[in-house]
Amino acid sequence: MNGKNSYHTSVLLQEVVTFLGVREGGRYSDGTFGGGGHAAEIFRRGGIVLGIDMDQDALRYGKENFKSQISVGKLRLVKGNFREIDKLAGANGFANVDGILLDLGVSSFQLDTPGRGFSFQSPGPLDMRMDRELGVTAKDLLTVLSKGELYELFTTFGEERLARPIADSIVKSRRVKQIETTEELGQIVSRVVSGGHPGIHPATRVFQALRIAVNDELENLRIALPKAVQLLKENGRLCVISFHSLEDRIVKTGFLEMEKQVLGQVVTKKPVVADEDETNRNRRARSAKLRVFERK
Ligand SMILES: C[S@@+](CC[C@H](N)C(=O)[O-])C[C@H]1O[C@@H](n2cnc3c(N)ncnc32)[C@H](O)[C@@H]1O
Repeated sequence: MNGKNSYHTSVLLQEVVTFLGVREGGRYSDGTFGGGGHAAEIFRRGGIVLGIDMDQDALRYGKENFKSQISVGKLRLVKGNFREIDKLAGANGFANVDGILLDLGVSSFQLDTPGRGFSFQSPGPLDMRMDRELGVTAKDLLTVLSKGELYELFTTFGEERLARPIADSIVKSRRVKQIETTEELGQIVSRVVSGGHPGIHPATRVFQALRIAVNDELENLRIALPKAVQLLKENGRLCVISFHSLEDRIVKTGFLEMEKQVLGQVVTKKPVVADEDETNRNRRARSAKLRVFERK
C-alpha cells in the first residue's frame, strides 16, 4: 500500500497508522477524508472509520470507490467541517474513539482541478472554497477588501514580506479590470515578486493566504484540537499533519496547552517528517509535519 490513488497521494501513511496503533475492531475518525488513503489503510488493518470532509467531491469519490467498505459498516462518510467534530462524531456513534486523524490542507484533486481555483498552475476561476456551500470566494475577497485589509491578509496568513506592494498592485489592477482567474492573480503577483526561492512560485504565499481566509482554516484547527482530544478513549491518539508553519505552530502550542491541562501528553517531542524516499516520490510530503497527542 503506497497511499496513492487517482484523487490524492497520502503523506506519512505508515507513520500515521503506526502512531494510531490501528487494531481490529478499533474505531477511528478521519476529519479530512480526501481521497480516503489514510482511511483505507486503517480499515485494511481492521479498523472502523468515520470519514468527514467538507468537500462534496471528496465524499462523492469516497462513496463511489469504497462501496463495499461502506456496505459492511467499515466506513461511514459524512459531510461536515471538522471544527464540529464533537457533533459529527456524536451523531454517528464515534463519540469515544481509539484515534483521530487531521491531515490538513488541500488534496491533490482540489489543487489539480482547474475549476476549484486553488492553484496558479491550473488556470481557473478564483474560487478556493473547499465546501462549495461557503459564501465567500477568493475572487470576492480580492474584490471587496481594502488595500490595508489585503496587506493584513497576505502578512498574517501568507507571511509574505512583499504584502504591501502586492496589495498595491492588486488594487491598481482591479481598477482597470476585476481579477477573476488564478492566472491573472499569478501574473499580478509575479510582476511584484521577482527572484525568490528557486522552485517556489512567487504567488505561493498569496494563494495560501487567500485559501486560509476563504476556508477559515486556522480557526477550524484551533477549535477542533481540544474537541478532538475530548473524543479520545484513554490512551487514544490524535495525529495531525500540517503543511506550513502557521498550522504547525497552532498544533504545537495547542498540544502543549492540553498537556498543561493534564489531558494527556505529547508523543512527538519533535514533529515527524517524511523520509527521503517519500519526498522523492511526493513533492507535497516535503513540507509535511506530523504531531501526535495521547489522551490520558
Ligand atoms: C490533504 S487532504 C486529505 C487526504 C487524505 N488523508 C488521503 O489520504 O486521501 C485534506 C482534505 O481535508 C478536507 N478538509 C480540510 N479542512 C477541512 C475541515 N475543516 N473540515 C472538513 N474537511 C476539511 C479537504 O476538503 C480535503 O479533502
